[in-house]
Amino acid sequence: MATRTPPLLKVAMIGCGKPRGTEGATGFGMAHRHMAGYTRSGRCTLAAVADLSRENAEAFVAQHHPAAAIFSDYRKMMRAVRPDVVSVCLWPHLHARVVGGVAPFQPRVILCEKPMDIHWDACLRMHRTCRKHGVLLAINHQRRFNLPLAKAKALLDGGAIGGLRRLDGAWHNLSDAGTHVLDMMFFFNGDTPAEWVLGQIDMRGATKVFGAINAGHGISEFRFQNGVRAVYHFGHQHAELGCLLRLTGEGGMIEILFDAPWLRLRRHGQAEWEVVDTGESIHDDQAIYRGIADMLACLDAGTVPQLASERALRATEIIFATHESARRRGRVDLPLRAGKCAMLAMLASGELKAEFPD
Ligand SMILES: NC(=O)c1ccc[n+]([C@@H]2O[C@H](COP(=O)([O-])OP(=O)(O)OC[C@H]3O[C@@H](n4cnc5c(N)ncnc54)[C@H](O)[C@@H]3O)[C@@H](O)[C@H]2O)c1
Repeated sequence: MATRTPPLLKVAMIGCGKPRGTEGATGFGMAHRHMAGYTRSGRCTLAAVADLSRENAEAFVAQHHPAAAIFSDYRKMMRAVRPDVVSVCLWPHLHARVVGGVAPFQPRVILCEKPMDIHWDACLRMHRTCRKHGVLLAINHQRRFNLPLAKAKALLDGGAIGGLRRLDGAWHNLSDAGTHVLDMMFFFNGDTPAEWVLGQIDMRGATKVFGAINAGHGISEFRFQNGVRAVYHFGHQHAELGCLLRLTGEGGMIEILFDAPWLRLRRHGQAEWEVVDTGESIHDDQAIYRGIADMLACLDAGTVPQLASERALRATEIIFATHESARRRGRVDLPLRAGKCAMLAMLASGELKAEFPD
């Protein structure tokens, strides 16, 4: 029986950037990495880009597909080109607004960069608007596909440390780096919803990452509905946890480290850690390509990709519930009701003051 070849997909990029470290780069130029993933899929062609910077757009098109059209207004691009796949590689405060503007044109899928947005109600809205228009929304929590993390999940699922009891994590901040760590916690725990969050933030050493304010120090404790407990330490002295992620099971522990060797395992009774070499770091761009491949395969199959916004919303809810818990000085029971961002509200009212390092 002949197999059906999947149709060629027209890709549009919103926000081109310049690759990290190159002259004039304002960030990481994530659009270039998305495009590499689309190209590797063998079934996508770049149809158009939209960017306020003509220079960035021209360089992008010259590198990836000189015949692609250039727009400064993404709505005009959507109207003229009608792409099947749209990548949104803008800074976080623009994510929900632009995704909400793209969805009515009904591309088949939108892949938006993380974190979802800087306001919780905006995150919920971008998810619901895409649902309403029948558009698959994916958020680039690509670390689910990095080999050390995927292998940790396979070891856990294979019973290497028995039933999962606890997750600990540590990284630079809550919403930029934290969205990845929190998403990994949900990944390890089978995307089980969380029940409550208790958190605190300190604005000393606050940072602006891709324009978004992050607290300089904090902690977020939460409980999943299946009883697994999690603690995420962020910012100031976070590395003292000793690992990016620690999975504690009934029969041992798995750790994902900040540096090579990236993954190690110790079963109860084992004197030494056992290093598991996957041949890849936790930062490899292969994860982005695998995430895109999974997203496109799920688009054909009508299944839920790992990057689906319904999964991303769970980690995102922990971020905003942590801010809300700091505001209430108490535990926040989930689901978190729609609201903007308690941290930004407290900064606006003067209740909190951000102290950025010089
Ligand atoms: N998934 C990851 O591991 C990862 C890593 C780094 C960055 N990111 C995320 O990627 C997102 C984009 O970051 P980046 O580093 O690629 O940014 P960047 O600064 O490299 O590129 C942003 C581009 O957007 C353009 N732009 C700005 N406003 C626009 C508008 N209104 N319409 C059209 N174009 C506009 C700019 O001219 C620029 O070309 C951020 O949300 C960031 O958090 C994700």
